[in-house]
Amino acid sequence: MSIIIGIESTAHTFGVGVVKNGNVLSNVRDGYTTESGGIIPMDAAKHHVEIAEDVWVKALDEAGVSEGEISGIAISQAPGLAPCLIEGMKFAKKKCKELNVGLVCVNHCVAHLEIGRLTGAKDPVLLYASGANTQVIAYSGGKYRVFGETLDIGIGNFIDNFARVIGQGFPGGPKVQELALKGKYVELPYSIKGMDVAFSGMLTKLKQMYEKGFGAEDLSFSLQETAFGMLVEASERALAHTGKKELLLGGGVGCNSRLQEMCKIMCEERGCKFFVPRREFLVDNGGMIAYLGWLMFEKGLVVDVCDLDEVDIDSKERTDMVDVRWK
Ligand code: ATP
Ligand code: FE2
Repeated sequence: MSIIIGIESTAHTFGVGVVKNGNVLSNVRDGYTTESGGIIPMDAAKHHVEIAEDVWVKALDEAGVSEGEISGIAISQAPGLAPCLIEGMKFAKKKCKELNVGLVCVNHCVAHLEIGRLTGAKDPVLLYASGANTQVIAYSGGKYRVFGETLDIGIGNFIDNFARVIGQGFPGGPKVQELALKGKYVELPYSIKGMDVAFSGMLTKLKQMYEKGFGAEDLSFSLQETAFGMLVEASERALAHTGKKELLLGGGVGCNSRLQEMCKIMCEERGCKFFVPRREFLVDNGGMIAYLGWLMFEKGLVVDVCDLDEVDIDSKERTDMVDVRWK
């Protein structure tokens, strides 16, 4: 029986989750947002430092777990914004030393994927659509293999960028989704090569059209139809190529109901099953870090408290670089 606390701090969100024997008992989050403009990494890191202790206390309270019961602490070690990762790592190491427990180093992207197991998906193709990442992934031979991905920016950053152009703050995804409800279709560049996608051409076009007087609602609607169409097409190719029968959505952009609907329709047409985690597990959260941390802890993939000085953040580690030693 083990209780693992997960700490998330790769970008805008500081989160703490508690997992006991594979069950998420609590999942508390505090996000850095802006009225206008994007994330300033140093400001986000400062936000994390200020609220870390409160989020920690609240997560343990909600889970009904005391510090003395903790078996280990998991941290999102990679990838992300370095100033944010560093503060999370400092906080986790401090707690490990105080409580004399080991540290489990988790890759944030892989945690977004593994938390999908809670939906019941067994061997899916994963559409990982988040702020910095856009990848179509499937597990094979000890690694999460990337079949297709964005060749430039992540889908979430692309949407947030567009939101900024039309005067909205961060995060832009929910605002664009809202505006899209009243929009109609105008043509935008559709860019997919094999299973790879690209968004910067569409972003330039959207900026030009907005300056020419096209409405934010029509552009939001068309952005969603076009960009999500590309993601669904890449996912369908991966399903066809791998012969897998399940599609799992992950990452913050997975909250978008139009993207969910388009995935569902494609899966129904192909006779595949579609899975999507609850919203709290799609956006950045400590629960997913605790969950993967627990899987790894059970396999002994823990850094001893004496060796903490050897552990550092890794702002660049990719999904397909991680050795999956817990399956
Ligand atoms: P990564 O996982 O790549 O490091 P991240 O951690 O920044 O990126 P998440 O928290 O998984 O990303 O997702 C944040 C993104 O999700 C933001 O870009 C935000 O605009 C987007 N998002 C949230 N809700 C919605 C929505 N309803 N529609 C579209 N996008 C959304
Ligand atoms: Fe994320």
